Amino acid sequence: MDGNGRWATRRYLPRVAGHKKGVDALRHCVRHCGERGVKVLTVFAFSSENWNRPPEEVSGLMELLAVALTREVPHLKAEGVRIHFVGDRSALSEKVRAGLLQAEAATAGNTRLVFNVCFNYGGRWDIAQAAARLVERGEPITEQSLDAAMGLAHVRDPDLLIRTGGEQRISNFLLWQAAYSELYFSDKLWPDFDEAALDEAIADYARRERRFGRTSQQIQEPVAKKAA
Ligand code: IPE
Ligand code: MG
Repeated sequence: MDGNGRWATRRYLPRVAGHKKGVDALRHCVRHCGERGVKVLTVFAFSSENWNRPPEEVSGLMELLAVALTREVPHLKAEGVRIHFVGDRSALSEKVRAGLLQAEAATAGNTRLVFNVCFNYGGRWDIAQAAARLVERGEPITEQSLDAAMGLAHVRDPDLLIRTGGEQRISNFLLWQAAYSELYFSDKLWPDFDEAALDEAIADYARRERRFGRTSQQIQEPVAKKAA
């Protein structure tokens, strides 16, 4: 979800105003995913590197998380959304940590949409923490065991990875899990990324051929056989 700061700056507003607008965009996005039948939505809300931002922006983002937790959980419950937080919680305040647990517990029974919020998350952090966990348990490190020790082990790898804000890079997001994700870059700033923009991304995804290392012919064969 990139572009909140620029959205605000263009309007001569403080950057935090852009983040606030970003929460509104996220609320709409979650709702629309539920309506479109999307089963899993994972968002990058705060990266391990975002601590390097000006202190007032970091505290503004923490405050926004705390407010959003109390305000949004009733909506999530009503819409059948199960929330998970993924990331290093040790650096977060006691109050925020309690809020995360509460939100997870309050929505644990929901099954319509799994909503993962990556907060104080980094793809490299996730790989390293998974490896450290296995070492601690004395387990061998394999693709399968690492996969099962990752922060997103409860969901399958993402089919589609969207980045807004015009930048074309991964910025330490799902490094492990995005191995075969379709990448989609939108020039829209995150607060402007509305339902129509999400539909456009999904439509673009639907036109892609996913081969997972195989040939185009191999992918089309089963379809041809079925039709015959
Ligand atoms: C949101 O967008 C990303 C978060 C860290 C919440 P940015 O704050 O990176 O916005 P730009 O890139 O400065 O416009
Ligand atoms: Mg940015």
